[in-house]
Amino acid sequence: MAPNYPERLRNQKVVVIGGSRGIGLAVAEAFISFGSHVVVVSSTQTSLDAAITLLKSEFPSSTEYIGGRTANVKDEASVSSLIESLASEGGVDHIVYTAVDKRIRGNIVNEDIEKDKELFGVKFWGQVSVAKAIAKYKAIKSGGSYTITGGSLSLKPKPETAVGAAINGAVNSLAKGLAVDLAPLGVRVNAVIPGFVRDVHEKLTPEREALYQRLSKGLLTGSVGTTEDIAETYLYFARAKYTTGTLALVDGGAIFSSA
Ligand SMILES: NC(=O)c1ccc[n+]([C@@H]2O[C@H](COP(=O)([O-])OP(=O)(O)OC[C@H]3O[C@@H](n4cnc5c(N)ncnc54)[C@H](OP(=O)(O)O)[C@@H]3O)[C@@H](O)[C@H]2O)c1
Repeated sequence: MAPNYPERLRNQKVVVIGGSRGIGLAVAEAFISFGSHVVVVSSTQTSLDAAITLLKSEFPSSTEYIGGRTANVKDEASVSSLIESLASEGGVDHIVYTAVDKRIRGNIVNEDIEKDKELFGVKFWGQVSVAKAIAKYKAIKSGGSYTITGGSLSLKPKPETAVGAAINGAVNSLAKGLAVDLAPLGVRVNAVIPGFVRDVHEKLTPEREALYQRLSKGLLTGSVGTTEDIAETYLYFARAKYTTGTLALVDGGAIFSSA
């Protein structure tokens, strides 16, 4: 029988933590497109409601398979309760994590270290808390996956990004370590490393358009990618049963460009 690639994600239960906007929202759209049942998680009820309303309007025949939960990934108890409840409902096939706080940027001489420690909360410790709860409650079914998110600054830093880049470097190592630690549960762990992208839901202003034109010159692909281009990689990691501990850089070739 011929392999049925388009059906591989149908009826899979997928949770997108940080799915109310940006890359996470595009990931939710991508999985729903392939017939997955998606639960979007974010910390703010208003942003969650807006995302659910948008998704249901985009996919009117899938509304019963689109849900949302609020949780604050800076609070381990909140993460634990979210993952425990997902496990008690029969578990999930895939968890994607794209949540992030404000970016850390600026001259190292002015580094606000206490603030930086706090900003590690969502992007780094949140991804750790979710992994811990997955292991504790066995929330992902065997054969499933946990895909976390880093950033291309970990591989090619720009001026005034050293600490922000270091969070992403920590995420790269975390993905490899978690792949080893969650393997006994049959859970694969991988990391997507996005480069700078344009949000497909962004309302373009002339200033943003000019920014994208300028940044496009530094890319081998010739134009800035979109959140949808990044979402492709999360689909791949969910489907790729022979892939774990892998980091996927998706940056339009910026790493090879001198611009
Ligand atoms: N976009 C890019 O160009 C780019 C480039 C390189 C790397 N990345 C990486 O890709 C990932 C996604 O970035 P993005 O730009 O798509 O992010 P974004 O648009 O800022 O979205 C962040 C998401 O995280 C949620 N969130 C924030 N704090 C939270 C908390 N305490 N608890 C639960 N959810 C929380 C937000 O919802 P609420 O506000 O409702 O909580 C939102 O859904 C990040 O790791 C980012 O560093 C992005």
